[in-house]
Order: sequence, then structure tokens, then C-alpha cells
Amino acid sequence: MDKFVIEGGKRLSGTVRVNSSKNAVLPILAGSLLLEKGEVIINKVPDLADIHTMVKVLEHLGATVKTYPGDRKLVINSESLNKYEAPYELVSKMRASFLVLGPLLARLKKTKVSLPGGCVIGPRPVNLHVMGFSKLGAKISEEHGYVIASCDRLKGNTIYFDRPSHTGTENIIMGATLAEGRTTIVNAASDPEVVDLACFLNSMGAGIQGAGSSTVTINGVKKLKPTEYTPIPDRLEAATFMMAAAITGGYLEIKNVIPEHLGMVKNKLLKAGVEISEDRKRIKVKGPKRLKAVSVTTYPFPGFPTDMQASVMALTCVADGTSHIRETVFEDRFSQVMEFNRLGADIKVSGDRAAINGVKDLRGASVMASDIRAGAGLVLAGLVASGVTEILRVYHIDRGYERIENKLRKVGAQIERKRA
Ligand code: EPU
Repeated sequence: MDKFVIEGGKRLSGTVRVNSSKNAVLPILAGSLLLEKGEVIINKVPDLADIHTMVKVLEHLGATVKTYPGDRKLVINSESLNKYEAPYELVSKMRASFLVLGPLLARLKKTKVSLPGGCVIGPRPVNLHVMGFSKLGAKISEEHGYVIASCDRLKGNTIYFDRPSHTGTENIIMGATLAEGRTTIVNAASDPEVVDLACFLNSMGAGIQGAGSSTVTINGVKKLKPTEYTPIPDRLEAATFMMAAAITGGYLEIKNVIPEHLGMVKNKLLKAGVEISEDRKRIKVKGPKRLKAVSVTTYPFPGFPTDMQASVMALTCVADGTSHIRETVFEDRFSQVMEFNRLGADIKVSGDRAAINGVKDLRGASVMASDIRAGAGLVLAGLVASGVTEILRVYHIDRGYERIENKLRKVGAQIERKRA
């Protein structure tokens, strides 16, 4: 197991390039299973543990995946898709594996996918996915920790989501792509990754409209055609580097960004005293001498992303004044708080709210990453903490950030990966 050793207090300066979005690539890989004949080519795929897990899932199901590491290209052929079961050992590694349910049901008319179970950020049920597929005519049940579903051909219908679910919307979109007739998802998630999945499927001939709004319609088609696709840049990686510039009082030029995906993050950083300028695919961020307190409520897109909650909390730990953070997307996503307090932060949590009294300095200590985004927040805290911060369980961070330490080192951070 690896750890990061960070010597804090270095002001970052320079240029970083953001990779393609993990959360866009994962559903796109699942969606490639919908193609009966021919190949799907995905360009600029990031080298991440979660992407490797999804490739293993596709291969387990009978697809062939050719990888071209230098080119960062994946070529997927799912003509020989022949297994309909996604086992616990794969789904428990990464919840996004549950995204194969829709494509398997559409292609093979039956599927058995392990329930992902709870995780460190809360219980995370899949009832909306299950309700959606039963509305599309699937016979669906939960047995021995598995969701078992079968159908003739899925049939379009209107599906009302009680709340917008990101992968729930993606799963239904994929299932409905090959369904008979029209499906409408009301109160759909509008995240950029949902839009990117729709663009990818439409490039194969799917009939998806309205992705990016709260009502998505899918006119089912009989079959899809091959495509070559380049996914969107990772807004969460971009936001993490924006916050790295902000927290160190540094200056970063961040390339390969879609600024419109970062509206609420920019808004909160501006309130915290950060200077931001942008052009089409680039954002420049300059951190102030001392950040100002800022209050944040997480909310589905276009609200403030829950995935950046731990990172913005790192900023508030050293900001001038008291900040308030409310987590409304996941039930239990404050696992980073104890670790921040070990670094000398002053945070009190009550239910879904945290009050953060900014301190002048954090002090290095050993801390532990508990999920991807909590881990990224700890890296940010380590960049400003005086002395040495050790971050254990870096494998969580590696699931979503490709060699973050190399990118940070290039712009002046003192951060090393070592064997723990
Ligand atoms: N929910 C239900 N029932 C469902 C589905 C969701 O009650 O059937 C609840 C969840 O428990 C949660 C809320 O709805 O309280 C929102 O969950 P959502 O389904 O939107 O999350 P997700 O699709 O499981 C994706 C991302 C997460 C990101 C969330 C929120 C992927 C692969 N995962 O998860 O990303 O935090 O949306 O934006 O896209 C990460 O990348 O580190 C990560 C955790």
C-alpha cells in the first residue's frame, strides 16, 4: 500500500492538464455493451484504477477490450457478450459496475447484477434503478444480494425519479436506448457526464433528447452502429487543481477544462477571495494571501458538487472566519472531518451540517483517506499544513486521480509517493 508524504507550505505555480472524466468514461464503457456488431473506440481514457475495474467487468461479460496505453485508447467489441452476471467481487470494488444492468438487460434480456451494498459515504441504495427498469417492463427482484431481471424487449414508459440519481439516470438511458417506443425520465440528473453519455450513444444512432435538463426522452432504436468518441474533461479533477491554487495562495493555469461545468465551484471560490479568469478550454486561478470563509450546500448539478465537499472544506479550514457546509446529497459524507481535525482544524459536525472555524495554520500529521474525494481534500490540506503530512490509503485517491502527485510536483508541491 502506498502513502503520500507532503511537505506543506509551497505556493503552487505553473500549468496543469486535466484528463478525461472518470465518471463520463465509466458509463460510456458500460454503454459500449449495447453495440451488437462492430467496435467502439474511446479516446483519451485516463489510467485509473476504476477504469481498469470496468474493463475487467466488460471482459468478464464476454466483451474484448484492446488497450493502447501510449495512445490512451480503448477498443471494445461486445459481439461475443455472453455472460449476464456481474458478480459481487467486481461490483463491490466499484459501485459504477452496477451500470452494466441496463445494457445487459437490453442486449441479453436477462441479467443478474450484485447489489453494490453500502459504502463509506452512506447507504447508497439502487431502488430508483430498480423501479425504472420495472417501469420499462422488466421482471425484477432482489435475491441473495443480487438484482435479477428479465424481459422480452424493454418497453418505453414514463419514469418519475423522486430525486435525481446520476448513475440511475445513466442506467435507464442505456436500457431505454434499445427499448420499444419512447421513454421519458422526469427529474433526471443533469450532470455533464449524463450529457456526455447521451452524446456518445447518439453518435451510435440512439435517439436521446433533453440530456442536461431534468426531463430526458429516449426514442428506442433497434440497433446501434460503431463509433469513435472522446469523453469530456474531468470537472472534478479541474476543480481540485483550482482549489490547490486557492489554498496555497498560488497561481495555476488549468488546461482541458469546460468552464461551464464549474459554475458553482467558481462562484464559491470567488466568494472566498480567489481570482479566476477563463477562456474556452482554460481556467487561470490565483489564490489570495488568506482565503475568506465561505458557506456551501451540496446539491445535484448544477448545484455545488458533493464530490468537491471535502476539498472546499480543506479551504475553509484555513480561511478567515467561520464557514458552514451542508451535505444534502449523501447521508454520511464527512469522513474527512476527523482527519482534518488531526491536522489542527476546528470543525464541528451536527447531522448533515459542519461548522468550520478557520485557523491560521494546519500542522502536519498522519491521516487516512477513506474515499476518493475525502483523499483529495486531505492532499489539499497537506499542501498548506506546516511540516510533514502523511496520507495513508492512497489507493482510494488513485481510483479517481491519475498520479496526482506527479501533476502537483510539476507545479511546485513537495509530495512523494512511498510504500507505507
Ligand atoms: N439514491 C437513492 N436511490 C437510488 C440511487 C440513488 O436513494 O436508486 C440516492 C443516493 O443514496 C444519494 C443520492 O440519491 O443519496 C444521489 O446518488 P446518485 O445516484 O446521484 O449517485 P451515484 O450515481 O451513485 C454518482 C457518481 C459519484 C457522485 C454522485 C453524486 C459515478 C460513477 N458516481 O454516484 O461519484 O458522488 O453521482 O454526484 O458517476 C466519485 O466519483 O468519487 C463519486 C462518488
